[in-house]
Amino acid sequence: MSRLVVVSNRVAVPDDQAARAGGLAVALREALQNYGGIWFGWSGKITATSATEPRIIEHPPVTYAVVDLGRKDYNEYYNGFANRTLWPLFHYRMSLAEFNRGNYAGYLRVNALFAEQLRPLLEPDDTIWIHDYHILPLGKELRRLGANNRMGIFLHTPFPAMEVLLALPSHARLARSLCSYDIVGFQTENDRRSFNDYILHEARGEILGNDMVRAYGRTFKAKVYPIGIEKGVMAQTSMMSSKTAAYRRLEKSLGGRKLMIGVDRLDYSKGLPERMEAYQRFLEKFPQHRNEVSFMQIAPLSRSEVPEYKAIRQQLETMSGNINGRYGDFDWTPVRYLTKNFQRNVLAGFFRQAQVGVVTPMRDGMNLVAKEYVASQNPQDPGMLVLSRFAGAARELESALLVNPYDREDVADAMDRALTMSLDERKERWTEMMRIVDEQSLETWRNTFLDDLSKAPFSTP
Ligand code: G6P
Repeated sequence: MSRLVVVSNRVAVPDDQAARAGGLAVALREALQNYGGIWFGWSGKITATSATEPRIIEHPPVTYAVVDLGRKDYNEYYNGFANRTLWPLFHYRMSLAEFNRGNYAGYLRVNALFAEQLRPLLEPDDTIWIHDYHILPLGKELRRLGANNRMGIFLHTPFPAMEVLLALPSHARLARSLCSYDIVGFQTENDRRSFNDYILHEARGEILGNDMVRAYGRTFKAKVYPIGIEKGVMAQTSMMSSKTAAYRRLEKSLGGRKLMIGVDRLDYSKGLPERMEAYQRFLEKFPQHRNEVSFMQIAPLSRSEVPEYKAIRQQLETMSGNINGRYGDFDWTPVRYLTKNFQRNVLAGFFRQAQVGVVTPMRDGMNLVAKEYVASQNPQDPGMLVLSRFAGAARELESALLVNPYDREDVADAMDRALTMSLDERKERWTEMMRIVDEQSLETWRNTFLDDLSKAPFSTP
């Protein structure tokens, strides 16, 4: 394949602490190692004004090109339009979405800036793979600057139903920019259906079949590529984990009690207050589990400058304190609430120790924690996953205990069911989930996307 150029808001430059790597970043580093090429995006640094040129860091076979953002650009583009408008809207939280023209202008400005800085680094044969909601207009900006390369975008978040998207004042321009790509990739069929709905009814385009779409004079692919985790890695890591000090410390601290675990960025889309309420209901309804199980919620701080994220942090501190005060005992803490970040190898061990994995977002593109939890289990005695039907992962992991996170009674019942499920049923459900986790791996995701992209441009059949 030709050189690969990956563009994402966050770039995981090796050994650079400022460029904090999320799950997405880890996934992309792997892809680039295989093909060689460029990884372009924000440096993770905020300076007085945005940089006029990217900083180049050579790490063969990958060249990292990162841009420092000025405070105003960062506020309007990242904190503002990306995380206070698109993020809540794409997660069906219309009441949290702020529509601010200044932020929108900043979003377009940073996208134009990225395009201008990336353009000179491109070769005609490069394949460009763009990621996520921060940079939806980037493809159109690059085309405007004469880039005729194969270009695909993958949306890691949900794509909202047409009626929700219509609330966005700039929906037409954003949708039109999506049509500049050769491929628009989604996590689930649900997301693709919402997009196609928009194309059909709002953009007056056509759905041609065979994943092809025509709109605004362009023919392109709109297809589902469910993201996964690296095949075998988590299983291997979790198997080794029992030798780590953290694993043994956790085991000792539990004193023979069972463990339920949740690991999520501290984000309102993850349904954390609702999960705490469900856990409280569980303790009320099933008193036999009191002093027998602890719930550990790990929720690393995220987007802390955005007011809605500050608010949810306070809310969770109060809720976990209340539960512990009300139900706890001198030798038992019902909730362990931590905002600390843990390495993945430590988490793998925690997952393996937990009889129940609780993944109950109100809405989520995919949710790789669900897949990591499954992959970390001991095949001889696997734990059970309680999974929100509104996580993309629920479309694949149908053998989990699927719940409606808006219904705390339903989640409380599923917690009890997971803790009391027979070994045979757990094994059967886990085997089915593990088969899918292995099949829909990170490798499958990127190979399928890049293979499709190598066939672009697409003409009307
Ligand atoms: C989600 C998004 C990613 C983002 C990650 C972490 O998974 O889809 O694009 O990188 O959250 O959020 P942050 O704002 O810290 O990059």
